[in-house]
Amino acid sequence: MSYYIPWLVNTIEQNPSLTTIAEVGVFQGETLCKYAPIIKERNGLIYAVDWFQGNTSEIYKGPEAQQLHYFRTEQSEIDEIYQNLIDNLIKIDCLDIVVILRGDSSQLAEQIPDTSLDFCFIDADHTYEGVSKDILAYKNKVKEGGMFCGHDYGQPGTKQAVDENLICNIEHDPTAQIWIQK
Ligand SMILES: C[S@@+](CC[C@H](N)C(=O)[O-])C[C@H]1O[C@@H](n2cnc3c(N)ncnc32)[C@H](O)[C@@H]1O
Repeated sequence: MSYYIPWLVNTIEQNPSLTTIAEVGVFQGETLCKYAPIIKERNGLIYAVDWFQGNTSEIYKGPEAQQLHYFRTEQSEIDEIYQNLIDNLIKIDCLDIVVILRGDSSQLAEQIPDTSLDFCFIDADHTYEGVSKDILAYKNKVKEGGMFCGHDYGQPGTKQAVDENLICNIEHDPTAQIWIQK
């Protein structure tokens, strides 16, 4: 399990005030399914945002470990990922607290009310352009005192986009590198 998943689950567990969450880039819900039961206990709500196509970024054409997230064009493959997410949420009895927003992440942000989120985790398109668009689209969705954060600060595109748009603390773990807006 990547380091960032326990970080995310611990952060949510230790902050009972976090009840309205958005994860931008959920894939089949590996991360989401770890914390969704906690949010359900709190009668909360999770927005799960993805186009279920994988990533266009070059790094996902690389090593075997990353190939899971390669870019798909076959509709049947895209639908399968979407269905896997639903099945995974049904297995843990959490489908009822998750709003799945399917499509391009930066465009879908308009479906989330401004200053409504306690916690927003950006983990979708990892290119400079993609992360920049998501930061601009989602930062106003987080309420005062909420947490705006994301994955893979170690990737050059992410780092540049974060540095240009936000002032952040970084969790310096070699496998995770989470950015958290100050
Ligand atoms: C690194 S994966 C996310 C992993 C996920 N957090 C998990 O727990 O497995 C990135 C996800 O972002 C999605 N994605 C990439 N670019 C996107 C975009 N422009 N709009 C919506 N989703 C996008 C991909 O389909 C992929 O599922």
